[in-house]
Amino acid sequence: MQLLAKTLYGLEHVLADELQALGAQYVERLNRAVRFHGDRALIYKANLWCRTALRILLPVHSYTARHKNQLYNGVRRYNWQELLKSSDTLAVDTTLQNTYFSHSKFVSQKIKDAVVDQIREREGKRPSVDLDQPTLRLNAHIYKNKVSLSIDTSGNSLHRRGYHVHSAAAPLNEVLGAGMIRLADWQGKSPLLDPMCGSGTIVTEAAMIAANIAPGLNRSFGFETLNDFDHELWQTIKQEAKDAQQEPTALIRGSDQSARAIRSARINLQTAGVDQHVTLQICSLDKLKPPVDQQGVIITNPPYGERLGKDDLPGFYQTIGDKLKRSFPGWDAWLLSANPVAIKRIGLQTQNKLTLYNGQLECKYLHYPLYQGSKKKKYAAQ
Ligand SMILES: C[S@@+](CC[C@H](N)C(=O)[O-])C[C@H]1O[C@@H](n2cnc3c(N)ncnc32)[C@H](O)[C@@H]1O
Repeated sequence: MQLLAKTLYGLEHVLADELQALGAQYVERLNRAVRFHGDRALIYKANLWCRTALRILLPVHSYTARHKNQLYNGVRRYNWQELLKSSDTLAVDTTLQNTYFSHSKFVSQKIKDAVVDQIREREGKRPSVDLDQPTLRLNAHIYKNKVSLSIDTSGNSLHRRGYHVHSAAAPLNEVLGAGMIRLADWQGKSPLLDPMCGSGTIVTEAAMIAANIAPGLNRSFGFETLNDFDHELWQTIKQEAKDAQQEPTALIRGSDQSARAIRSARINLQTAGVDQHVTLQICSLDKLKPPVDQQGVIITNPPYGERLGKDDLPGFYQTIGDKLKRSFPGWDAWLLSANPVAIKRIGLQTQNKLTLYNGQLECKYLHYPLYQGSKKKKYAAQ
């Protein structure tokens, strides 16, 4: 089967690697998505294991349409009875891109009408709509005049791991947090520190990686309500995931100047079942010291000024740069920020500058190797 995994901009190659490791074939990177081939087991595994996927879609039907009648009639050309009975329920989500159609709700409605009309004509009764927990969730994507209909095997977006129950200001999306850790190439062996951890997304994702906990273990998926759901196969895959968990060896620490943020982080870590793998500390950045002798990685997203007000953001970024340079020689620091003016004041040399999006905000994800002594020395030591 050909499948499509959706992700955030900038994480396509990370997701492609995750899918390949799960056994995906013909993996092809697209914009905010990865196309691949796999069987039913891979659909279940990709939903359960991919830390950087938002949805796993199974394309079933595509056609062209420029107006509403073509949109409706195109849906009718597919045999929906294989997927839906009149006693089942349906939901349709639509995304539009450069197309003749301008209202996604209208498109969803038309597609839903076409599916349920076909079933009613054959069975005398029509399936009803359930937006929360339908038997079948269809994903419609229209690009120009090309309509692609897919089964959404994920249901709720995969970033909803179920642990973000308490939030201090501006929490990161879980998929973005996991992606930042993967982009920093942290393998769960060296210390990881988030000195502005807020509600703890980065340290929670890090702990789940280090403990090899499948991110979807505590949630349900769209494929579980499909008519061809293989309960036994799913139980086997879930059990394998439980058996694969391991004791982390790396030190993972989150700190923040706000006691409220640390409280949220603690609740979220407990909900994710990884609180025993992470130490938390109320501490402002200027007082921070490396928690161990061993050098590690700092991954953090400081305030940008957009959602969290700070009077002198550029001045604060200069303090961050000074602190990193003074107190963390030999570490690798990765910072996510949407504030280009403030970024300039960090005053450290970047090795890498990637573009990511935090919601609608374009961000830079910056890698600062914090050299111990001269650059030459660091490379000579490697
Ligand atoms: C953008 S939020 C981090 C959100 C976090 N990544 C999450 O997913 O919840 C920035 C955090 O930096 C913290 N912060 C701001 N100034 C700080 C300082 N001088 N020392 C330590 N933490 C600071 C804030 O309290 C806030 O929790």
